[in-house]
Amino acid sequence: MKHQQLLTKAKEILLNNFQEKGFTIPCKGLYPFQWNWDSGFIAIGFAHFDMEKAKKEIKTLIDSQWSNGFIPHIIFHNKSDTYFPGPNFHRSDLSKLSNTNVPTTGMTQPHVLGIALERMYEIAENKEAMIRFIKENIDAIYNFSLYFYNHRDPLDEGLAYIYHNWESGTDNSPIWDDIWDTMDSPSLEFKRKDTGHVDASQRPSKREYDHYLHIIEIAKKHNYDDAKIAEFSPFLVQDPLFNSVLISSNKALIRLYELIGGYEEKVEKLKSLTQKSIRNFNSKLFDEKLGAYCHYDLRKGKLLRYVSSSSFSPLHAEIPTKERAEKLIYTMMKKFGNEHQYLCASFDPTHERFNPKKYWRGPVWINLNWLLYHGLKKYDYTHIAERIKKESIEIIEKNGFYEYFDARKEISEKQAAGYGGNNFSWSAALLIDLLNE
Ligand code: GLC
Repeated sequence: MKHQQLLTKAKEILLNNFQEKGFTIPCKGLYPFQWNWDSGFIAIGFAHFDMEKAKKEIKTLIDSQWSNGFIPHIIFHNKSDTYFPGPNFHRSDLSKLSNTNVPTTGMTQPHVLGIALERMYEIAENKEAMIRFIKENIDAIYNFSLYFYNHRDPLDEGLAYIYHNWESGTDNSPIWDDIWDTMDSPSLEFKRKDTGHVDASQRPSKREYDHYLHIIEIAKKHNYDDAKIAEFSPFLVQDPLFNSVLISSNKALIRLYELIGGYEEKVEKLKSLTQKSIRNFNSKLFDEKLGAYCHYDLRKGKLLRYVSSSSFSPLHAEIPTKERAEKLIYTMMKKFGNEHQYLCASFDPTHERFNPKKYWRGPVWINLNWLLYHGLKKYDYTHIAERIKKESIEIIEKNGFYEYFDARKEISEKQAAGYGGNNFSWSAALLIDLLNE
């Protein structure tokens, strides 16, 4: 497909997934509501051809904010019977801080809102109107950043914890297997919907779903109180992707506040928080032997020593020094980057837990590629950045706008190698951004 045709198709996908209430679903059937970080990426795509929709995307997400600054992972604006677990399971109303206008989940996702807002500003032709929009909405995004430091950082390290794998965005990563091994969740009765839309072999197992739901039950028992969750959740992790995105969003907010002027106090606050985050991120989350950033299990007090695409996301937030970035990129190219593979598999292709078809256990995701592309450019690894961009376009051209893709080039030559949901919003949105750069 020519790039022009790809762009037309990508726009069509976004418009088809756009809902009357002003937000966009990730894809039909499988994900029929508004998802937090999806919306950030979607807004970037819309910004290139329909800025009003991009703004609406951000607005509808921000409108779900809780009184403590928290912005949830799924916003149930509408009813749908194609997804489990829905609003009646999550019960956000249990928290006295929750938003009474709309039911949501009681967990969140990587905070890409700051990144999205800044990218929208760069894309906007009418800068004045965009500055007005930023002025109206930036404080809500700032409050979301602050939420993590105030409520998700029990050791005061500037590193936020996540209490559920669904907060990571990399929901079924093999890294979580180590945590499931320590848990003895009851076997629950429930009716999943995801396996009705997508081949069950590409999705998590029943046992994994037991754990997912069990953690939510614990959080619900404590009415989604963060301090109680920090004390009792069996899952408590400092995730390098989650924290990188938070730091990148903080940096974007600093630049935007400086641009509009008059917010010195907030800028200072963000600067000092971000500096502390970066310091502790580097001292706590880097594993010299692996040459990569890893997840830290706060429950067990140890690093989960695996390399995944999340390991490289600190490049986006300019967390590593030049020297460390060199090491990190060396690891990336050695494990993920030989000529038989598309960049960048979601999990270490040399590891026995790698699975090229299963959700976050190996396939390539366009949103991670987008973050890595920009991260590599910041460190002047232009050649590898361009390869990621080229390959991201190529896998979509070959397979269509899927949710995730096989990293093995030979498979892609022979057969359809796009998996999960089709006509997937962030694959479309970020392709638009890559092609319009
Ligand atoms: C899956 C992904 C998550 C994403 C959601 C909606 O659950 O793991 O990152 O936000 O789908 O697209």
